[in-house]
Amino acid sequence: MSLPLVLDCDPGTDDALALFLALGSPELDVLAITVAGGNVGLDRTLPNARALVGLTKRAVPVFGGADRPLLGAFTSETRVHGIDGLGGIALPEGPAAEADHAADAIRRIVRSAREPVTLVGIAPATNLALALMTEPGIAGNIKQIVLMSGAWAEGNATPAAEFNAVSDPEALAVVLACGRPIVLATLEIAAQALCTKAHLAAMAASGTGACLRAACAIQGTVPFGRRLGGAGAALYDPVAVAWLVRPDLFSTQEAYVTMDLGPGPCRGRTVIDRWGRTPHAPNATVLTSIDAAGFFGLLTERFNRLP
Ligand code: RIB
Ligand code: CA
Repeated sequence: MSLPLVLDCDPGTDDALALFLALGSPELDVLAITVAGGNVGLDRTLPNARALVGLTKRAVPVFGGADRPLLGAFTSETRVHGIDGLGGIALPEGPAAEADHAADAIRRIVRSAREPVTLVGIAPATNLALALMTEPGIAGNIKQIVLMSGAWAEGNATPAAEFNAVSDPEALAVVLACGRPIVLATLEIAAQALCTKAHLAAMAASGTGACLRAACAIQGTVPFGRRLGGAGAALYDPVAVAWLVRPDLFSTQEAYVTMDLGPGPCRGRTVIDRWGRTPHAPNATVLTSIDAAGFFGLLTERFNRLP
């Protein structure tokens, strides 16, 4: 029985690989792709999501959503993802997006689902928060919320904060407080499975499908950042999806996670209570280690299931 889920994304180079992994995995039943502004503006992330879904030939509806955070101004990350969000890799235009706003689609899908739905958030959490804030009752039919967000330690967008978290800290705080099981894939877990040139070459040599070729071409445009030693690129979003497909590749720790919502230099920081120093019970399962070889084997095998 496949796991019903909604994937909220901001494609985004790593979002592209996460979307391919989700749509290439029979263990997952992707009910909808919802899109927010994030890596680049919604005017780019939405057509990118449509194009990626189109390449997979899967009949999955795509919904545009928030183009800015709940509070404050929109900020993008074109240094990693390029101006267009996919590293300049042009894809055929995908199917039209649905008319509903992403938050309304999430509410409708979760409200009417016959079994609890998993929400996967690999973007700023604005769409998820809007759905939960405008219809709190849907939480009762949410199985779990799996997020690529946050960090145990230093950030990648600011010294203190990870990009998705700091892009909309209030939205992440809403999701963390919704009372449903949260799984957190932080910066650190992805840093344990860097995609090197060798990984990419092996993946590219594994097949000839359009999705595999697009995944490798897109990933090949991602710079190797100094923060990770210049040896490879972190596949942040695919790690979050891989947890759902192959949880055996991971170890985890239960921890209490809260947000710094202040205006200062630590705004958007996820404060993860590793040692139980706070009086709060854990509210999240944080991924702590990954079998990197198993992860790349999963990506390669699943990308080759796509057209
Ligand atoms: O910090 C990494 C996260 O921010 C990933 O989801 C990436 O796609 C960007 O959205
Ligand atoms: Ca993302």
